[in-house]
Amino acid sequence: MKVLVLGGDGFCGWPCAVNLADAGHDVMIVDNLSRRKIDIDLGVESLTPIATIGDRLKAWEQVGGKRIAFVLLDIAKEYDRLLALLRSEKPDAVVHFAEQRAAPYSMKSSATKRYTVDNNVNGTHNLLAAIVESGLDVHIVHLGTMGVYGYGSHRGATIPEGYLTVEVPQPDGSRFTERILHPTDPGSVYHMTKTLDQLLFFYYNKNDSIRITDLHQGIVWGTNTSLTEKDPRLTNRFDYDGDYGTVLNRFLMQAAIGYPLTVHGTGGQTRAFIHIRDSVRCVQLALDNPPTSGEKVKIFNQMTESHRVADLAEKVAALTGAETNYQANPRKEAIDNDLIVDNRCFLELGLKPTTLDDGLLAEVVDVARRWADRCDRSRIPCLSAWTTRQAEAIAARP
Ligand SMILES: NC(=O)c1ccc[n+]([C@@H]2O[C@H](COP(=O)([O-])OP(=O)(O)OC[C@H]3O[C@@H](n4cnc5c(N)ncnc54)[C@H](O)[C@@H]3O)[C@@H](O)[C@H]2O)c1
Repeated sequence: MKVLVLGGDGFCGWPCAVNLADAGHDVMIVDNLSRRKIDIDLGVESLTPIATIGDRLKAWEQVGGKRIAFVLLDIAKEYDRLLALLRSEKPDAVVHFAEQRAAPYSMKSSATKRYTVDNNVNGTHNLLAAIVESGLDVHIVHLGTMGVYGYGSHRGATIPEGYLTVEVPQPDGSRFTERILHPTDPGSVYHMTKTLDQLLFFYYNKNDSIRITDLHQGIVWGTNTSLTEKDPRLTNRFDYDGDYGTVLNRFLMQAAIGYPLTVHGTGGQTRAFIHIRDSVRCVQLALDNPPTSGEKVKIFNQMTESHRVADLAEKVAALTGAETNYQANPRKEAIDNDLIVDNRCFLELGLKPTTLDDGLLAEVVDVARRWADRCDRSRIPCLSAWTTRQAEAIAARP
């Protein structure tokens, strides 16, 4: 299969591109390298040393024996080049990772809010419009987020895979049932762009019969896969800073350097998680099981476990002896929430999840401790506040 991996230089995209190439697919990465530029702007680096895209690709050719092509292209701004690329490459599938993906970064300033909306919504829309204009039958696999469902109370209800069956009352007292997109409840500008992506997919699927799989992914933890471990130049990125670091990887790194684990608020927030190895596997499963022509957008909940943040901190503390520091929450969010998630689609397709209990210790020892001296402690606190109220609370932190 010929696959374009948009955003294939990023944390989820790179191991996915390598995995697809290893599985024998003809892979081309399309990326504008904006994530590397944001690191420079923020003055921070991946905890793991990552090679340039050129060195990554050279290393993969030597180690993996298969070439991955690369095109430097901004999908949000260079519509004509994107269309020309689709016409010349005629891919069977496009995996779309190419978005600004950090909620705290999206809430930093009006400039980063606008950038996140412009980049994410235009990028997704350009892809859809270009596929229609090309006349090609391309399967889009998009990386969305579990955050589209919201982290308020679901009152104990199980979150279904994308669609909710509702009963609609009629004036005569009768009712009809309908399957609708699950209502969205974004918790940041970044999450809002993902809810807008959902609507774009709904519309283009209805109007143009584009075949789409939208993966509502949980927070990804871990760093490498067996393939990216094969050569240091293939190493994946590990973000630990207050803007891009995700909660569990931040805890692992903090434990490794003896920094008290930064729990925001009460720690009662429950979130969904998935290991990077499983994320890569899910994308492969989604590509191998495309929607048929005329089928509605397929939505999978790409997560394997849910945990309360305070419980995660406790787990990491028990493994490493770390201390925990409860601090003012930069986010405007519920102090606690339930999160019961239906993820049967991937389990039925054969996913065998890597659990926290299987992988946490290895991640602390092999990655976080190994690269601990590269950590800039001043970049750990999360200072991006959702509103002025949270900003004041952060400023008052002891
Ligand atoms: N990392 C997670 O925990 C997580 C969880 C849920 C969903 N996701 C989703 O998975 C996707 C990938 O996330 P990630 O963690 O790999 O992020 P990342 O920032 O590491 O990677 C994104 C890649 O896309 C590229 N990119 C961004 N905008 C682009 C544009 N306009 N044109 C071309 N390339 C562009 C960046 O340079 C980067 O290489 C995102 O859509 C994200 O929302 C990630």
